[in-house]
Amino acid sequence: MEALAGQTIPKSAPDLSNIDIIADDETEQAIMLARSYAQRRHGMWAIIDSIWTRDLADWMGERTCLEVMAGAGWLAKSLSAHGVDLVATDLDVKAKWGKRPTVHPVKALDALTAIVQHPEAEVLLVSWPPYADPIIEQVAEVWGTERPIIYIGEAKGGCTATEVFCTQLHIVEKLEIPHWPGLHDEVMIGNYMIGR
Ligand SMILES: C[S@@+](CC[C@H](N)C(=O)[O-])C[C@H]1O[C@@H](n2cnc3c(N)ncnc32)[C@H](O)[C@@H]1O
Repeated sequence: MEALAGQTIPKSAPDLSNIDIIADDETEQAIMLARSYAQRRHGMWAIIDSIWTRDLADWMGERTCLEVMAGAGWLAKSLSAHGVDLVATDLDVKAKWGKRPTVHPVKALDALTAIVQHPEAEVLLVSWPPYADPIIEQVAEVWGTERPIIYIGEAKGGCTATEVFCTQLHIVEKLEIPHWPGLHDEVMIGNYMIGR
């Protein structure tokens, strides 16, 4: 929470995975408040820390990355600190997604325009694309099947992206990341296979 308030990347995130949120009202309220504080107040949906983003940066290596739907830019800030060559973009929809002070430069661009404007990008990064919104399928189709997509979110049936997107993303590698109790987001790396 201190790191969020100070707009710095936490060195590591607390392990919340074993907390039983419905154990008692106090625990449930505390977790819900903390999650709302991170997501709605500070625009950090996936829990970002220096440890797992180091592993992701190592996977990316020298490749040029385009991040769409970057929100406040937490992931971009952490990956850039690890040396990743990255452009972060997001459609400005503050009213829908709550307050969102950016912590890193984020270009105001909708995801489809961002892909067209950044043909040099070798890797597409997207974290927590909106649930049940087919925009993520359109984004993946425009991006194409050749270049990899790094998707951070829940698998098919979860609270991010769409069933079609999750089905058509052919995953070749996964990274575990810290998550909020009751959620199971992870890093999934693969290529989009249309009609799969
Ligand atoms: C749940 S937030 C995730 C933010 C960030 N990626 C994270 O993990 O913390 C979803 C983000 O998608 C963005 N978004 C939604 N539709 C978009 C579109 N068509 N083009 C670009 N960004 C979009 C919203 O503005 C919001 O910042």
